[in-house]
Amino acid sequence: MSNRTFTMIKPDATGKGYTGAILDQIIKAGFAIKAMKWTRLTAEQAGLFYDIHRERPFFQELVDFMISGPIVAAILEKDNAVADFRTLIGATNPANAAEGTIRKLYAASVGENAVHGSDSDENAIIESDFFFSKLERF
Ligand code: RTP
Ligand code: MG
Repeated sequence: MSNRTFTMIKPDATGKGYTGAILDQIIKAGFAIKAMKWTRLTAEQAGLFYDIHRERPFFQELVDFMISGPIVAAILEKDNAVADFRTLIGATNPANAAEGTIRKLYAASVGENAVHGSDSDENAIIESDFFFSKLERF
């Protein structure tokens, strides 16, 4: 069990002005921010990030969405970070997300679902390395 996970606040949520509220909820849930940046992905970067979904029918839609505006990328620290953060964000489809979760509160649809959370310790490391150098982590 690792104590770090990786998140992105997706373009739907940054565009609707939810960035501050989402970060506040993350911090109040006990996660410490160890790295953070406000940036915009290229299509190549978005495709590489979600490479595992390349053959899925929604892949192009996912890439188009992820490059439609700025995102916030961050590394978060907490005991049991990966699993606890997935609980905090809720189900992929906000219609199935538990009350009070970030996706229930801020997501509009399964495609535009406000936040990303790593699904394993291994992917948390891969995704963190995709965005952040050692010098950008504290
Ligand atoms: P994420 O990786 O972004 O944290 O989301 P997740 O684990 O909950 O869901 P995953 O299966 O990894 O899917 C990645 C993202 O692809 C989009 N998606 N669209 N239109 C669709 O049916 C569909 N299914 C997935 C979502 O943005 C999802 O978060
Ligand atoms: Mg995923």
